[in-house]
Amino acid sequence: MAASTVRKTELPKKFHQAVLKWRDAYMPDWGFMEANWKKYFPHQPEFQLCALNDCSVCPHIEVGVDKGKPKFTSACEMNKEQADHLLKAVKAQASTELGSIQQHRLTLARADDEQDQFWILRMMAEELRHGYQMFSVLLNDDWRSVTDTSGEDMVEEVLNMRTGSHVLGAFNIDFDSFLDNITFCAFIDRVGKFQLDMQKVSAYRPMSESMGPMLREEAFHLATGVGPLRRWAADFGEGKGTVSFDMMQRAINKWFPRALDMFGDERGGGRNVAFGFKHSKNGEAMMAYVEEVDQLVRDLNERFLRARFPDLDRDRAREILDKNESYEGVHHDDLLSLPDVKFFRRRGPHAFEMRDRDGGEIHDFESFRQHMMAVLPEPYPMGRDFMNYFTRMEKVANGTLTPVDAMREMPELSRVGGTCACSNAVRWVQPENGNGAANN
Ligand SMILES: [Fe+2]
Ligand SMILES: [Fe+2]
Repeated sequence: MAASTVRKTELPKKFHQAVLKWRDAYMPDWGFMEANWKKYFPHQPEFQLCALNDCSVCPHIEVGVDKGKPKFTSACEMNKEQADHLLKAVKAQASTELGSIQQHRLTLARADDEQDQFWILRMMAEELRHGYQMFSVLLNDDWRSVTDTSGEDMVEEVLNMRTGSHVLGAFNIDFDSFLDNITFCAFIDRVGKFQLDMQKVSAYRPMSESMGPMLREEAFHLATGVGPLRRWAADFGEGKGTVSFDMMQRAINKWFPRALDMFGDERGGGRNVAFGFKHSKNGEAMMAYVEEVDQLVRDLNERFLRARFPDLDRDRAREILDKNESYEGVHHDDLLSLPDVKFFRRRGPHAFEMRDRDGGEIHDFESFRQHMMAVLPEPYPMGRDFMNYFTRMEKVANGTLTPVDAMREMPELSRVGGTCACSNAVRWVQPENGNGAANN
């Protein structure tokens, strides 16, 4: 992407200031990041909080029923259903960007490696820019055809969200350790990459223009996760370090199902394609994602094996993995693996089913409880997110709640009451569709 095609803009002053105020509340290390940027990224331009639009995008709609027509430049050019769908997606995107900063900040201090920590800081700054980007999409258009809420109030609504009130489930889960920061980057940001890539074709030009610069940054976020995972896998192979495969496996069990849920119901997504907003349906994108993380897990296993057995060449290591062979006392079960796609789901056809990690059905709730305790990271089931899921799962298991109602019932902590900036009122509310609207 030639630099000259990228337009840089700032939000009107009052919104820019509001984002800076949010930044000061949730990123107290911002000054440290600016002061040390050159030390860690000597060849990177200094970070700038701004909206970046790639003006070289295809001017015509690339998929869907309007394919070939000029891309929409404002919401009022679309039909109501399209505009409504788009608005929900933009708000959900903004929410996820800011939500991840709120998650990362609490365990950031627990990193044992200064560089890992600094990379997470940069990633958080870029997520803030992504939120800022979505605010620019919201504020540069008139959405009155689909909402009575002003742009100002929509921005305020997103700035007021907390962990627990974000649109998508993965952004409502507290991190328990720095392993969560890293696993989140490798697994959840990767979903972000898929979503951004799908929206590069967006029939709404401001959205399409936003994706290229965000995707470049997203690649760094994936590296922020993958780098430490590789190092930990090799260290564990050599018998060094403090992160075992058991710990990594449990973290994968925690995050992989949430990543799958982020694609939306795997039977859906057709409207997004028909409307011209994404190039793939949910299920297709999800399977491509699974293939990619499968490769990641395979790479980690290979690094582990070759670190443990320095004489093992790459081809032989790959053969062992391909054939699920045991080698010198290391068995297939000792290595990392992805859970089955039916495990621990809260959206889609397998939502609120009692499945074990291999996808097998569990028939009684007590066995399910014991299985979950055995495969999830130790502190996670004690948290609010898991308890919300678990209490509903129990009702589904004893027949007093349907899976569809359980999905709807997942409570969200939302700001209610007036739109006054000083209002911090929050209470538990039931969302209208219980599912978030970003990806359906
Ligand atoms: Fe992002
Ligand atoms: Fe990201």
